[in-house]
Amino acid sequence: MSDSINVLALAGSLRRGSFNAAALRACQELAPEGMTIDIFDGLADLPHYDDDLRAAGVPAHVEAFRGRVRTADALLIATPEYNHSVPGALKNAIDWASRPPELPLHRKSVALLGASQGMMGTVRAQYHLRDIFVFFDATVLNKPEVFIGTAQNKFDAEGRLTDEPTKAILRTMLGELLRQTLRLRALSAIQAQ
Ligand code: FNR
Repeated sequence: MSDSINVLALAGSLRRGSFNAAALRACQELAPEGMTIDIFDGLADLPHYDDDLRAAGVPAHVEAFRGRVRTADALLIATPEYNHSVPGALKNAIDWASRPPELPLHRKSVALLGASQGMMGTVRAQYHLRDIFVFFDATVLNKPEVFIGTAQNKFDAEGRLTDEPTKAILRTMLGELLRQTLRLRALSAIQAQ
């Protein structure tokens, strides 16, 4: 069995200079051996979730997104905090990826992080996201939690992460995500026997 995993990463911000998107680019550089991270950048193109649209036939680009979620070994989500919760665009993407027939989010291995310009570093938004993922019976990494507060002081003008403690905790988190995902893979292989 392969010891490498493919991670699909989503940033919950559509903003060009997003700190959350920048944090995901940093994760690509900090990823351990055995992990590749692809960033999905089509969040803005997903229509508002509409069950009539799903019933009539999911648009091709939405189906492509669902397929990427389904085939990824794990998800890495960097969320901003909007009004103490999850940004609508991110919740919309989760809603599209949650629905039948294939249930792409079912039992997915997930890790969360978030960057904000305030002190709290998206604590409240991340706890709302954890709650959402219970519905899919997902396994969301418990530790370390990554709350990047005062993000404006931790990235340079080009959006490169410059803060060493943040790099260190991201490295630890990605290593734990790799281990969690391989553990879940081994468990489902045993259960399939
Ligand atoms: C915010 N911001 C914010 N910050 C926070 O710590 N708690 C909050 O509840 C909110 N609420 C909020 C609502 C809305 C609509 C916006 C646009 C912003 C500020 C937020 O942390 C900041 O804009 C980040 O830079 C957003 O993340 P990106 O776009 O840099 O990834």
